Amino acid sequence: MNIGFIGGGTMAEAILGGMLDGGVAQAGDVMIGEPVPARRDYLAERYGVAVSPANDLVVNGSDLVVLAVKPQDLHKVYDDIGGRFTDEQSLLSIVAGTRMKSLSDGFKHSGIIRVMPNTPAQIGAGMTMWTCAPSVGQAHRDTTAAILSTIGDEIYVDDEKYMDMATALSASGPAYVFLIVEALIDAGVYVGLPRDVSRRMALQTVKGSVQLILETGRHPGELKDMVTSPGGTTAEGLQALERAGVPAALVDAVNAAYLKSIRLGQG
Ligand SMILES: NC(=O)c1ccc[n+]([C@@H]2O[C@H](COP(=O)([O-])OP(=O)(O)OC[C@H]3O[C@@H](n4cnc5c(N)ncnc54)[C@H](OP(=O)(O)O)[C@@H]3O)[C@@H](O)[C@H]2O)c1
Repeated sequence: MNIGFIGGGTMAEAILGGMLDGGVAQAGDVMIGEPVPARRDYLAERYGVAVSPANDLVVNGSDLVVLAVKPQDLHKVYDDIGGRFTDEQSLLSIVAGTRMKSLSDGFKHSGIIRVMPNTPAQIGAGMTMWTCAPSVGQAHRDTTAAILSTIGDEIYVDDEKYMDMATALSASGPAYVFLIVEALIDAGVYVGLPRDVSRRMALQTVKGSVQLILETGRHPGELKDMVTSPGGTTAEGLQALERAGVPAALVDAVNAAYLKSIRLGQG
């Protein structure tokens, strides 16, 4: 299957790299439309793919077209390649916040796949939710799932309403985790650890705790109880987190991002 990219930026490169490493596509089957000459040269040199400044060439030569431009550049792309898709082609959009109806109207095409990845996709540890229009055929759905599984975990949903929830939890989530990790590092320094030691300890603690949940399959609350001795240090720390409203604040954060995503989608 020939795969094209409109936009050759950070996320396009993450998907391209995963796809080629995972053997889902060969370099010879890929063409990237990208306006910046230096970026085109880099992608052609590093990955051996075809590149072009002409998006219409990319569309003409591709079965599946990945749309990876910033939302503010979308209108230029609508003017450029709107109405150029055939019924056999699908357009896979990773553009944050843009609904399938807008994409379908903008490109005058019904075969839309909408994907919401997150930044850990850049190292193959992403979390991606995706959905597609009923007219997208099985072969393009299978290829989408195969591509997305090369950049991390992927979940298909059959209703676009879940994309606002994915925006709030998995797409915005890395920022919440970075904030928590930064605070843990600062906390270690506050009680007297050298910063580099505190950073190493905080990162391994977060990583190891997530791995423990994944590998034991136990409920996080059960694992929390197991490290909390009666009247001990962990109980004291947890009580401070409860007093500060940290669990409720995390729910508020995800809900605020969810409501914002719905508002942005309404234009
Ligand atoms: N980064 C994430 O974690 C993440 C997560 C979920 C969704 N997304 C979505 O993914 C999309 C891409 O994000 P990104 O971080 O990869 O952005 P990026 O690095 O800025 O990549 C966009 C690329 O598209 C190029 N471009 C601009 N106008 C174009 C046009 N008319 N035709 C073809 N290419 C064009 C840009 O070139 P110039 O440099 O000249 O503008 C740039 O190389 C965004 O819509 C974002 O919302 C990103």
